[in-house]
Amino acid sequence: MLEPIKNMSEAFGLKGKNAIVTGGNKGLGFGIATAFAQSGANVAILCRDIAAAKDAVQELAQYGGKYESFSCDVTNPANIRGAVAEVYGSFGQIDILVNNSGVSCGIELLDMDENLSEWYRVVNTDLNGLVHMTYEVGKRMRDAKKGGAIVNISSNAGFMVNRGMAMCPYSTSKAAVNHFTHCMAVELGKHGIRVNAIAPGFTHSNLSKNMPQEMRDGIISAMSVKRFGEAIEIGALAVYLASPAAAQVTGTVQVHDGGYMLTC
Ligand SMILES: NC(=O)c1ccc[n+]([C@@H]2O[C@H](COP(=O)([O-])OP(=O)(O)OC[C@H]3O[C@@H](n4cnc5c(N)ncnc54)[C@H](OP(=O)(O)O)[C@@H]3O)[C@@H](O)[C@H]2O)c1
Repeated sequence: MLEPIKNMSEAFGLKGKNAIVTGGNKGLGFGIATAFAQSGANVAILCRDIAAAKDAVQELAQYGGKYESFSCDVTNPANIRGAVAEVYGSFGQIDILVNNSGVSCGIELLDMDENLSEWYRVVNTDLNGLVHMTYEVGKRMRDAKKGGAIVNISSNAGFMVNRGMAMCPYSTSKAAVNHFTHCMAVELGKHGIRVNAIAPGFTHSNLSKNMPQEMRDGIISAMSVKRFGEAIEIGALAVYLASPAAAQVTGTVQVHDGGYMLTC
């Protein structure tokens, strides 16, 4: 369990902590992995694209900690079990889990095929993958009796419907992630595990890079902070939520969207 703050110079640090970041090879996940590494944490990256993960690990090496990548498709529970066992084999103990892996979509429900393949692809990644990761790592955190911090990467789309974006499986998954975060803060609290979520708005990454310029301009004009967010800024908030500074913070969903939701 995190001790209360002893001095401000260490309040926001993660020195010697071991973290798992799913999807830590790219986009927001790499921003989070970088922020963690710069704050003194060791990082295990779980993802499918191992070539990108190896590049990410190489880039992190400059920060002087232990960084490794593990192949894991979060839609496959057996895969998660195997990957988490491998991480524990190498790192011994995990203090922080960031459930960041996610996919988006752009199709309305009635335009999907009769098996609702797109619905299941997104929900299995963005919601069920995160739940399975929490189960596997949460059990080990509980048994280790050293507490822990879990940070779920949600979205401001979990609070609203983005007009014209046809993201119903995505928004629904993220709304469920927000409430799953509340439920887990209660269930895991007795084991000294804090659970919070970050709800980013539009942030530079692969998910947002192919957005038409007109749509991008419209979004920026609706934001109070007139620019997209950066992955490292999501990383900074994740560091705070995992750090001693947030020892009393659990069950929260922190909106990080440049004020976009205020007027939408
Ligand atoms: N960018 C934004 O504007 C924005 C806004 C709100 C919320 N978010 C959230 O931020 C998170 C990261 O998104 P991003 O914007 O950084 O997108 P991104 O650049 O496309 O990265 C997505 C990450 O998720 C991983 N991933 C996807 N499916 C996976 C699977 N089945 N198993 C394991 N890993 C998987 C990818 O790794 P591999 O492909 O290598 O497996 C990749 O690392 C997502 O949860 C997203 O919903 C993003």
